[in-house]
Amino acid sequence: MSELLARDFLRSLFHVGQRLAVAGDEDRSVEDATTALEASCAALTISGREAVLSLVGDALYLDRRILPNVSTEFDSVLQAMKRRRIDTITILPSASRSDLADLAALVAGRSDDLPAGGTVLLNERVVSPSDLEMRPLSALRRTYADSLDSLRGVSRSRTLHLGEAQEVVDDFLAGGAGSGSSLLMATVHNHDELTYYHSVNVCLLALALGRFAGLGHEQLRVLGLSALLHDVGRVVVDEAALHHHGRLSNEDWAQVRMHPQEGAIAILAAAGPGQEVAAAVALEHHLRVDGGGYPDLGDRRTHIYSRIVAVVDTYEAVTAHRPYRPPRTPSDALQVLLQGAGTVHDADLVRLFIEMVGTYPPGSVVRLASGEIVVAASVEGGTRRGVVVTGIDGLPVREQRMIDFGPEQVVAQMLPAEAGVDPGSVLEAAEQSLAALR
Ligand SMILES: [Fe+2]
Repeated sequence: MSELLARDFLRSLFHVGQRLAVAGDEDRSVEDATTALEASCAALTISGREAVLSLVGDALYLDRRILPNVSTEFDSVLQAMKRRRIDTITILPSASRSDLADLAALVAGRSDDLPAGGTVLLNERVVSPSDLEMRPLSALRRTYADSLDSLRGVSRSRTLHLGEAQEVVDDFLAGGAGSGSSLLMATVHNHDELTYYHSVNVCLLALALGRFAGLGHEQLRVLGLSALLHDVGRVVVDEAALHHHGRLSNEDWAQVRMHPQEGAIAILAAAGPGQEVAAAVALEHHLRVDGGGYPDLGDRRTHIYSRIVAVVDTYEAVTAHRPYRPPRTPSDALQVLLQGAGTVHDADLVRLFIEMVGTYPPGSVVRLASGEIVVAASVEGGTRRGVVVTGIDGLPVREQRMIDFGPEQVVAQMLPAEAGVDPGSVLEAAEQSLAALR
């Protein structure tokens, strides 16, 4: 639960910084984002105790507990803290709006002013590593964070290095991507709208589907590269149009529809092994199998990798956070794919994908007929294993335990926020179940 609260706080902090960069400090959207930051701060300190966020190495801790998901997801905030030499942020229950606004501006690099009201303290608490629960981030999680960094590099410099992108994919493959654990990474990370998270998730899901379909190592390398770069044209397209909250104007929409061509051009300009296929996938990933979609390329049969990316792109988009709508459950996303099988998507690939993820992929949260709430962990030979987080009495369990469950016992699939759990942390804690996935 505390990781969810910390996540909300960091996300709000990040949003204020983002709004400041785009709109300037007088803007209404900055005011709204600051109000959201105040609310998340109040939730974080609701117990009446101060909350201490500590940065040790590449991991963030809330009080003494490591925040594994947040450490990966908000890497940019962590890097900003490092640049500012901030080791600890202590937030008092009475944290004032102006102190929080100062903190956001400082972390975002928009101002050098420290919070002066005394309700948000920087580097006031000395953290000794021995006080903290030291648990290294898993290798795959580290690769995930590294890959985000490398994509951020692409977006910052606007120059694409195909070799660098291939290294990311090779690291994923070496780290076990394409197996259960990579599927888990992509499923439990309900990230913001940022293109890089989407790209990394699509890459992991495409590798998993490719491996499930029987592709060999060299084929997976090219598929992974193509999936990672499928939306690279988005960094060229106007940011405002991409992160638009309401209905897009015709002009913005026309811009968004240019990203396949822009992506293909960028990939071809970068030159390197695998570039022809990657460019084709970037160009074709919004084409439908019935000939619809965009851009209009006439009567053209698309590359199999484009169709794979289209399937996993849809699944990822439906289950992820978007600025204009909440995330939906994995089973909703599978319904969307089924509805589009044979028209939007390649029906064989949809069937294969559903077979691969199963109805309740790792990280999904389900309520059983008994009243228990379970985080699905693994499927083996038709048996589903999960971690019980809420007991039959409807109360959070004191000690989480594993159970086997069948689809007939499932009453509903829930969003993690509804159940008040963070599936990534739950599964990481249940190390045995994770080991079984690898
Ligand atoms: Fe796209």
